[in-house]
Amino acid sequence: MATDLTPSPNAPPAEPCAMVVFGAAGDLTGRLLVPALYNLAAAGLLAEKFALIGLARAPLTDADFRAQLGEALHRYATGAVDPAVWNALAQRFFYLEANFEAPDTYTGLRRRLAEVEGEFNTGGNVLFYLATAPEYFGSIVDQLSWAGLTREQTHDWRRVILEKPFGHDLASAQALNARLRRDLTEEQVYRIDHYLGKETVQNILVLRFANGLFEPLWNRNHIDHVQITVAESVGVEKRGGYYDRAGALRDMVPNHLFQLLALTAMEPPTCFGADAVRTEKTKLLEAVQVLKPAQVAAHVVRAQYGAGTVGGHTLPDYRAEPRVAPDSTTETFVALKLTIDNWRWAGVPFYLRTGKALARRSTEIAIRFKQAPYAMFRATPVERLAPNYLVLHIQPEERISLEFSAKVPGPAVHMAGVGMDFCYNRHFGGGRAIGYETLIYDCMMGDATLFQRSDTVEAAWRAVEPIFEAWSDSTADLVAYPAGSWGPQQAQELLGRDGRQWRGADHDSCG
Ligand code: BG6
Repeated sequence: MATDLTPSPNAPPAEPCAMVVFGAAGDLTGRLLVPALYNLAAAGLLAEKFALIGLARAPLTDADFRAQLGEALHRYATGAVDPAVWNALAQRFFYLEANFEAPDTYTGLRRRLAEVEGEFNTGGNVLFYLATAPEYFGSIVDQLSWAGLTREQTHDWRRVILEKPFGHDLASAQALNARLRRDLTEEQVYRIDHYLGKETVQNILVLRFANGLFEPLWNRNHIDHVQITVAESVGVEKRGGYYDRAGALRDMVPNHLFQLLALTAMEPPTCFGADAVRTEKTKLLEAVQVLKPAQVAAHVVRAQYGAGTVGGHTLPDYRAEPRVAPDSTTETFVALKLTIDNWRWAGVPFYLRTGKALARRSTEIAIRFKQAPYAMFRATPVERLAPNYLVLHIQPEERISLEFSAKVPGPAVHMAGVGMDFCYNRHFGGGRAIGYETLIYDCMMGDATLFQRSDTVEAAWRAVEPIFEAWSDSTADLVAYPAGSWGPQQAQELLGRDGRQWRGADHDSCG
């Protein structure tokens, strides 16, 4: 992570390198990678000595490839596209028709890399980006190693970025880590979780550890509980084939929600170095109390959406979505109550929920502080005291709000809930980002802070493993919720049983 956490125009350009993208004709390359590379180039953060080789099955020429990516850029760019910047970048894009399992592909790649290195002086540095289906990860790395392409010399580096999902359970994640370790060192592996590319997510560390204000309160003495919500308004869209096998828990919790959890709850790292930060995150995930199978029913709610209306659009029943089994028991919503076994958090519940087809898109971390002692306002019913929340809003708008009670003007003492708001855009302005810019830049700079380490990934799977086990016995606990709602009643009851409730989703106030 650059010292200012995001590659700003003041940051130096990334190190020279060739980037090799496996799965270059896929959606991710056009929708996320190319717009992010374009943004880096436009900000002067991509090295002059840069080239990209894309690999995919389709028979494309370099010109076809550039044209295809140019169209994608115009569709997904975060701002107006400067043709001069794009043309200069596109001239550095090359295409190689490939079969990821065939050794020829890798000898061909070695040849092509040598040519590109000669032409663009990329210094022997290579960033391999695996934007393929996860079943190819192991064999691509094996073959790269067989072709001698992962070997680092004294003055160059070879790094591999792997897209999510990293395994589908603990055993598969461990097996993949072991397979990667055969050919690569941990320092060469960059496991992406795109939530770590989001500005407000990175800001959690700054908010907590660069301010004297919050950290003294950040513990069980002052915090009543924490709520982490990642609500999506979209349904399963065109990804039914993948999603029906994955489900909400596997798709979102051990990765995105646990990253938010870890950043919110971890201990201060000794420095902002990659290993110091990742060690603290891992320790936190290891402290998540692993549920016993018998506890799962009381701590976890799973549900599937039925037909309904979201923001004026009608969504069908999940089971009627394309490529979803008509008798599917896959959950599209999950809510969990977790506890963290350490001194800071003993007795503080962390409630997590995520789902598709919910009322609105909203990702937030709400820290609920304990109620004030009542002495001075004895006459005021507790329910009328506005709860103190610090809310980190991550999507759709990036802001931080603080909710507290204030006196309503007038002779009588009446109180009302009021708020203070810091809105990223309003304050800093600036263009929108894809979220991959920082991740790609950091990888090119050898900074792995925002990437997942092998032990972090395994700790996360370990924490959710018993839930899968309990669920595999019976689906009797799977409930339904209508698309466009905030999930099933059972998710409300999860907090209700503890005398708490989910914070009502407010509307954005960045105006
Ligand atoms: C992906 C999941 O990792 O994250 C998707 O596979 C989900 O199902 C997406 O929609 C959410 O990302 P974001 O950035 O839109 O919140």
